[in-house]
Amino acid sequence: MDNLILVTGGAGFIGSHTCVALSAAGYRPLILDNLNNSDVRVLERLAKITGRPPSFIKGDVRDRTLLDRIFREHNISGVMHFAGLKAVGDSVTDPILYYGNNVTGALVLAEAMQAAAVKTLIFSSSATVYGTPERSPIPESAPCRPANPYGRSKRMVEQMLADLQHSQPDWRISLLRYFNPVGAHQSGLIGEHPLGNPNNLMPLVSQVAVGVRDQLAVHGNDYPTHDGTGIRDYVHVMDLAEGHVAALRHAASGPGLVTLNLSTGQGASVLDVVKAFERASGQRIAYEVGPRRPGDVAAYWGDPSLAQVTLGWRARRGMDQMCADTWRWQQQNPQGYESDGAL
Ligand SMILES: NC(=O)c1ccc[n+]([C@@H]2O[C@H](COP(=O)([O-])OP(=O)(O)OC[C@H]3O[C@@H](n4cnc5c(N)ncnc54)[C@H](O)[C@@H]3O)[C@@H](O)[C@H]2O)c1
Repeated sequence: MDNLILVTGGAGFIGSHTCVALSAAGYRPLILDNLNNSDVRVLERLAKITGRPPSFIKGDVRDRTLLDRIFREHNISGVMHFAGLKAVGDSVTDPILYYGNNVTGALVLAEAMQAAAVKTLIFSSSATVYGTPERSPIPESAPCRPANPYGRSKRMVEQMLADLQHSQPDWRISLLRYFNPVGAHQSGLIGEHPLGNPNNLMPLVSQVAVGVRDQLAVHGNDYPTHDGTGIRDYVHVMDLAEGHVAALRHAASGPGLVTLNLSTGQGASVLDVVKAFERASGQRIAYEVGPRRPGDVAAYWGDPSLAQVTLGWRARRGMDQMCADTWRWQQQNPQGYESDGAL
């Protein structure tokens, strides 16, 4: 069988949802994850959704010996590389950790793939590679000026993989630049469960709604936007997951390198998200407006048209569904995967 896909970081937020989309499309995911930011109980939940537990190996993507063994023992046809660290603030305080995990991780993986002659790779990049954009919607051709070590680690990997594909044109590489992934699978069985303090808006909003947190801190309401709060391009995680399956199908059509935004092309402000979440949950979201956060951009959103043309993919789920699905997950699992009462 040639439909086995190695999913590094597959126990995490985006990887786990992509495992669902892979299974629905007839692929078999093999998860490699060191569980540094995820919970092994996600595997039972995946089994409930797909009817079959995913194959799982606990290990680190930087472990070359382990990777060689995985490629030797399994007939892997392609790799989705989600494993990485993603907290921008942490990357500023500990850049070596970030370059080690994100850049070395991708390098070791590419070496092992090359040795095993597995040449289909889909890489989780990020809109942070653009830095402060000159205009929105941001096309893929916009200059890349990442403003922090996390963004630079993603950009370095993009450049490394582009060089690899240039030198060995039989590789099939997709660099997918995600905007702001939110939401959860509609079953409420899997979702985002940040360990420690969430860095992103939607988990914070949903924690206020469920009562885990008293109120939301809004960082600035004096931006030049319709309500003064910052605007971002939120994408439903299941749309992202389906984008990965579309990229895998596209890779099957021939070798090459594609760099694509996975975005909706629409921005929503912090207060738009708060109001949509109030509608979805029936709860009031208390918030307090504080000063702007250094480094925050007023507004940006991505241009998704190249992904539409190249992959035939576009985001189908709107903000109301993003909030409704997040709310279902949060309500059923107020403590994330520790909330086993939900099962
Ligand atoms: N969530 C976002 O806002 C966002 C936006 C753009 C890009 N991305 C990228 O998408 C990818 C997935 O993000 P996510 O939100 O699902 O994060 P996540 O933390 O939920 O998932 C990442 C997974 O990788 C695992 N992991 C980390 N380092 C590893 C290593 N060295 N070896 C093996 N496993 C390792 C973690 O345990 C975790 O399960 C990351 O590369 C991230 O940088 C995320």
